Amino acid sequence: MTEFLRELPKCEHHVHLEGTLEPSLLFQLAERNNITLPSNFPASVAACNERYNNFADLQDFLDHYYVGMSVLIKEDDFYDLAMEYFKRAHADGCVHSEVFFDPQGHVERGIPIHTVVSGFERACKDANEKLGTTNKLIMCLLRHLPAADGLQTIASAAPYYQAGVIHGLGLDSAEKPFPPELFTDCYKTLKDQFPHVNLTAHAGEEGDHTYVTNSLNKLNVTRIDHGVNSQHSDELMAHLAENQVMLSLCPMSNVKLQVVKDVSELPIRKFLDAGVPFSINSDDPAYFGGYILDNYIHVHTRFGFTPKEWTKVVLNGINGSWCDEHRKAELR
Ligand code: HPA
Ligand code: ZN
Repeated sequence: MTEFLRELPKCEHHVHLEGTLEPSLLFQLAERNNITLPSNFPASVAACNERYNNFADLQDFLDHYYVGMSVLIKEDDFYDLAMEYFKRAHADGCVHSEVFFDPQGHVERGIPIHTVVSGFERACKDANEKLGTTNKLIMCLLRHLPAADGLQTIASAAPYYQAGVIHGLGLDSAEKPFPPELFTDCYKTLKDQFPHVNLTAHAGEEGDHTYVTNSLNKLNVTRIDHGVNSQHSDELMAHLAENQVMLSLCPMSNVKLQVVKDVSELPIRKFLDAGVPFSINSDDPAYFGGYILDNYIHVHTRFGFTPKEWTKVVLNGINGSWCDEHRKAELR
């Protein structure tokens, strides 16, 4: 079955490049850049893996994730990080990736946005040329920072949207205390300036279903990241199915961040039966113990989808991707 799942033309829509920072690369970059990690940071790869098995919730993970990214300094670091992910995803049979990054997490440490985007852009190009995969960059705003900071970030990223280097906007970090409507201006400002930009937001991971509805209504997103709590509103479920709004689900992440105890508790069968499109993704694979194929395997062992059902899931992922129709036709 693993080979069947590997060979499916999988698209990944929910992976944070900073969340692909494997402990081995983290320690290598810390040494290369003379970074001293805080004394309470795990001291070895094994200690990291142990700590990563024990996140209490999203915030506990995020506290670690922001320290982890402090080893990324130079353009080559961002390139190496992204290229490692693209190679790993390719080995899993992932043919198209839409990847998040958090520029504010770097700019606030004094790293110019240009350094971040240039390294990631170069990796996207190389992955396309060397591996044949297609890739899109999605800039995320950190919702624990003020919207004014988000507006500044959008202004500084404008040249990259203009040049088609960045394709989308997302919203991540601590969800519950920072509801989507706080960022209405940010989303509107970017969309007014670049009408072709694609919009998404994390919603309904720890927040309830109103976070999903408000992301759709106030931010005008066309995709929802996570969205598991949509299951608690029949009206919302019907809306998602009718309008084919795709949820980018992250099963192993939901277990590691204590959203559910086991993947079997996720409403994946419910979404499939209700016609709510979803893709299956890794979120922060270096922290949550598995890349895209591991997530597919977890879903398969719990839900036992038939080959026909898997074909439907994969087709929904292709249809919900932000690549052009030509590429979609190639992938189908
Ligand atoms: N949720 C919110 N913010 C994040 C996540 C997540 O799972 N991963 C990285 N930033
Ligand atoms: Zn995420």
